[in-house]
Amino acid sequence: MKFARSRNECECDHEVDAAASNPAPVAEQQSAATGDLVIIGLGYVGLPLAAEACSAGLKVTGLDVNERVVRGLNSGVSHVDDLSEEDVRSMLDRGFTASTDPSVLATARTIVICVPTPLSPEGGPDLGAVTSAAESVAAHLSPGTLVILESTTYPGTTEEVVRPLLEKSGLVAGADFHLAFSPERIDPGNPTFGVANTPKVVGGLTPECGEAAAEFYGRFVDTVVRARGTREAEMAKLLENTYRHVNIALVNEMAVFCQELGIDLWDSIAAAATKPFGFQAFYPGPGVGGHCIPIDPNYLSYKVKTLGYPFRFVELAQEINGRMPSYVIQRAQELLNESGLALSRSKVLLLGVTYKADIADQRESPARPVARKLLAKGATLTYHDPHVESWQVDGEDIERSTDLDRALAEADLTILLTDHSDYRPKLLEEYARLLLDTRGVLRRAPKDEDPTVVPTQARRHVEREGIQVL
Ligand SMILES: NC(=O)c1ccc[n+]([C@@H]2O[C@H](COP(=O)([O-])OP(=O)(O)OC[C@H]3O[C@@H](n4cnc5c(N)ncnc54)[C@H](O)[C@@H]3O)[C@@H](O)[C@H]2O)c1
Repeated sequence: MKFARSRNECECDHEVDAAASNPAPVAEQQSAATGDLVIIGLGYVGLPLAAEACSAGLKVTGLDVNERVVRGLNSGVSHVDDLSEEDVRSMLDRGFTASTDPSVLATARTIVICVPTPLSPEGGPDLGAVTSAAESVAAHLSPGTLVILESTTYPGTTEEVVRPLLEKSGLVAGADFHLAFSPERIDPGNPTFGVANTPKVVGGLTPECGEAAAEFYGRFVDTVVRARGTREAEMAKLLENTYRHVNIALVNEMAVFCQELGIDLWDSIAAAATKPFGFQAFYPGPGVGGHCIPIDPNYLSYKVKTLGYPFRFVELAQEINGRMPSYVIQRAQELLNESGLALSRSKVLLLGVTYKADIADQRESPARPVARKLLAKGATLTYHDPHVESWQVDGEDIERSTDLDRALAEADLTILLTDHSDYRPKLLEEYARLLLDTRGVLRRAPKDEDPTVVPTQARRHVEREGIQVL
């Protein structure tokens, strides 16, 4: 596909189309807007953004199709890990309201779309929520509004999918209203980086659109990075996530053969990580989860396929990461067999069923395929997860253990799948009969270790029989 540079932010490239080349300056147009900001989609991305904008003094309205979410927020209940009920109450005190009524869009100066972009049953992009949000915006769009898409998607979506839908309003992007893409980089559960201190990439349909978006985010984000256009901003997000996906697959593949070669990969990674340049450590695990890593590269792969050839790195990474749950089962079986036990007659405890540590989000968690395979092999399953009160696999309720010490002591085999901070090495070593640690928790430096010590010296070693690290 030709990446047409018809509208971008590069001063040196002026192949602009009619609307963009001779725009009536959007900022100068009289806007009927009275609200500062409407955020469409109040999930893991939209809600923290709303909170940050409220803190900066913007008048924020949230629009969501889910009545339960809207009712909950309006009564001070948070449904995402990164915001407490206190945070939501403080948003309400600052004038935040949530609504299911799209007419709130008519009074917005800025509209940010943060709706989900899942995969279709065929594995391709499902832009249904984005197109329906864009149609709602078009029905209420006023001149002078800034519309920003934040949902992760393939390059070209803002221009080829969202723009024509918005222009059904009769207003022209770049002339009557501003249009931009800004990828969300939120890392749920990250105590260090949030909306305000993670640099925000923005790419506008025209330089003016980019400027308007940069100015908007500049009100509550420390650093705004201008990408050349919407496609470059869309691609930046997919590059970040594909990079992680591919590197995780690299260490996962290495974990499998290092086990057979008798090499301690965790030790090798720690040693390599002492290089102060040119290397970033990634760690093996039971597979990839969450809404980004397993899904976003498919969006890029889809776009590349329109050119008539595959994106081979992504396909390979998917294959390797997708095989990890089966590898976990293989290792679990071997560990049991070494003690004369059979999986079909064993009690197996899963520690952590969310996709990452210290959050409640279960989306695409590798715990589910691991559990499915264990059940198929006849194991008796329980789980422990401080963040998940009930858990079903293919409609079957899995028994929850809340007493960790006891659950560890009672299970024939424990498989640690998520490195929640409750899972402390000493406790695991003391109580677990057999343990497969798929996250390297047992190899990490103790928390009180001197941070100036280089990682190789800080690495723990597993000293007990019956305990293995992936
Ligand atoms: N969760 C993350 O860590 C993360 C990080 C970076 C980027 N993203 C991207 O951000 C986007 C949103 O993800 P999320 O995790 O916040 O999703 P989410 O499922 O947590 O929240 C999305 C919200 O949008 C609402 N919604 C769906 N369709 C709607 C519509 N037509 N109109 C109004 N509301 C609608 C849903 O009811 C839901 O409350 C996705 O594209 C995702 O890939 C997510």
